[in-house]
Amino acid sequence: MRIFEQIESRVRGYVRSFPVIFESSEGSLMIDESGRQYIDFFAGAGTLNYGHNNERINNALIEYIKNKGPFHTLDMATTAKKKFLTKLNDTILQPRNLDYKVQFTGPTGTNTVETAIKLARMIKGRSNIVSFTNGYHGLTMGSLSITGNTFYRDEAYISRSNVSFMPYDSYLGPDVSTMDYFRKLLADNSSGLDLPAAVIVETIQAEGGVNIASSEWLRELAVVCYEFDILLIVDDIQVGNGRAGDFFSFEESGIKPDMVTLSKAIGGGLPMALLLFRQDLDQWKPGEHTGTFRGNNLAFVAACECLQYWDNMDLGNAIKHKFKIMKKGIEAIVKKFPELNAAVRGRGMIFGLEIPERGFCSQISERCFENGLIIELAGADDQVLKFLPPLVIDEETLLKGIAIVEQSIGELVEEKKGKLTGEM
Ligand SMILES: Cc1ncc(COP(=O)(O)O)c(C=O)c1O
Repeated sequence: MRIFEQIESRVRGYVRSFPVIFESSEGSLMIDESGRQYIDFFAGAGTLNYGHNNERINNALIEYIKNKGPFHTLDMATTAKKKFLTKLNDTILQPRNLDYKVQFTGPTGTNTVETAIKLARMIKGRSNIVSFTNGYHGLTMGSLSITGNTFYRDEAYISRSNVSFMPYDSYLGPDVSTMDYFRKLLADNSSGLDLPAAVIVETIQAEGGVNIASSEWLRELAVVCYEFDILLIVDDIQVGNGRAGDFFSFEESGIKPDMVTLSKAIGGGLPMALLLFRQDLDQWKPGEHTGTFRGNNLAFVAACECLQYWDNMDLGNAIKHKFKIMKKGIEAIVKKFPELNAAVRGRGMIFGLEIPERGFCSQISERCFENGLIIELAGADDQVLKFLPPLVIDEETLLKGIAIVEQSIGELVEEKKGKLTGEM
């Protein structure tokens, strides 16, 4: 690992939690240079929904390269882009009655978030954006300003004006309607809240701790936005692309956002981000919001293969089935270790196991890695273990991964007991 410590910036993060050199990967497994296998419950933070080195994607890419398909074409028209737009429209948008325009932004999630808030401000001629407590939208300046966690914000020394944070669903406990509070502030012209151009929301706050907004809360939010002429942006970068069960995470609630940000798994592991928005919001002048890497042809090819998973109900049904497996397995862990006061939350194939004892989830993640599982943390204080396996994981590997979590927690609990009795 010397070369990484020697010349790669201290900013590197995940390599510290998983300190091996990965050489290959396949499906739900990653293999390090010594040949050791790890089950991947992190899936590139939700990028590898269709698994590592997915055969369909690889074959399509090899074919494309063999045929000398262009890699980089700015935002010019290409065959790969034509196929992707057609596939997205036919398989995802039209069947859901979503007549969105598609804008390709720079290739990472934060690029599409920046684009969304810029467009919203431009259209409404207002500067304020409402975001929610524990929200995570990326780390470039605009996205950072609407991200809650001070760990990311404190050292940026940016102006945080033009953004207001509202309490997310259940932030003030199960009995307080945070939407009533938001509505009251909007209706009161002396509340101090500037009428926002847009509200940006994650239906499930993945980085924020796997906090799940109820469908009722989302519907109320959509009504409030409509009543006060505010654009509703759903940030579906992490929990879209099937993670929450349907292709879009908001489908269950029945809302129709004005804009949707997509990235991560849309490109099957290759960098790609896009913004979807209502046709009448397409008010850009040609070339007004531009950049060099918009429209990665290899990602278009990969994305077309990914979208084939949505040609029928198979993947959706498999997610429902694996949801039950995950729920049962993780709830059993909660029951087995009552002394942890753990709580479980989940939808589709994203689950959070919250453990109040400070630092315990980090220990679990570390022990899981020693035992052959890659699993990450979420929440303001890393108090949540986040289960994010590839959607295509086979049942046996899924169960094995959950068993490693159980085993690792068991070992740590036993060691703690040993320490306590040793101390006495
Ligand atoms: C909901 C959400 N929005 C935006 C981002 C930022 O995406 P990126 O890291 O690709 O810039 C993330 C990344 O985790 C995310 O989860």
